[in-house]
Amino acid sequence: MERIVVVGAGHMGSVIVRGLLDGMPQVEVVIVEPSAERRASLDGRAELAAAYEPRPDDLLVLAIPPQAFDSFADGLPRGACAQTTVVSIMAGVRLDTLSSALGTGTVLRAMPNLASRVGQSMTVLCPGDAVPAAGVDRAKGALSVIGKVLVVQDESLLDPATAVAGSGPALVAYLAQSFTDFAHASGFTAEDALLLTSQVLRGTADVLSEPGVAPESLYQQASTPNGTTAEGIATLREHRVRESVGAALEATMERARELAG
Ligand SMILES: NC(=O)c1ccc[n+]([C@@H]2O[C@H](COP(=O)([O-])OP(=O)(O)OC[C@H]3O[C@@H](n4cnc5c(N)ncnc54)[C@H](OP(=O)(O)O)[C@@H]3O)[C@@H](O)[C@H]2O)c1
Repeated sequence: MERIVVVGAGHMGSVIVRGLLDGMPQVEVVIVEPSAERRASLDGRAELAAAYEPRPDDLLVLAIPPQAFDSFADGLPRGACAQTTVVSIMAGVRLDTLSSALGTGTVLRAMPNLASRVGQSMTVLCPGDAVPAAGVDRAKGALSVIGKVLVVQDESLLDPATAVAGSGPALVAYLAQSFTDFAHASGFTAEDALLLTSQVLRGTADVLSEPGVAPESLYQQASTPNGTTAEGIATLREHRVRESVGAALEATMERARELAG
């Protein structure tokens, strides 16, 4: 039976485990969690372990904080991961660091986002050079339980991916707060203000997913000369909102680069 081991039962690890248990019932799922108290609170459908005991054909998912990685790797017997396919979701830990610390070339880095908790992550996955196509497919299949997966071959793309996809939901939520604030201040209840905003985001995302629709064509189409939307877009232009959002993405990407060292 195929075995997937998830190390770290925090926010992301728990969501991945739940997705695997629901979406890949044919797979044996193990959670590695050192704390006995935390283990007692985990999904009883998964096998629980206090430490990782490697098996050669494991798919190992590292969902621990980046600062915990060195001690995790140091605690493994030498050569233990030589045959293991390792997927790290740790922000900023590079493929060569993973590979040399774990003693295997079959390492992949993934950047998921917080929409994974509703199965709507946009995850960008980058395999190391030594990962065979079957290993990429296996990792992609496992991460598909939390949303869409885009495979890239160039590791440097993970820094902009961190800005656009990793931090994206939080940046969009910051902007969405303006919509709810405005609707609430205009007389809608807080609940209805949130309904208006979330449905607008969902509907816009669905329209943007239609073939041939780009954000620019969508807002231009909606902007009848002298109409209401045109007035709103003109005000956004006047306040250079597009440039501000670009600067925020640039700053996020730079921070991702700094953290990766
Ligand atoms: N949250 C996101 O949206 C997001 C997005 C992209 C990437 N990531 C990455 O995903 C990783 C996990 O993030 P998170 O938000 O899930 O963090 P989190 O909620 O803090 O979870 C981390 C978990 O790892 C456990 N842990 C620490 N050291 C361990 C070890 N040696 N063995 C087993 N478990 C260990 C922690 O247990 P204790 O609390 O007992 O120490 C905790 O349960 C991070 O590397 C982060 O960069 C997160």
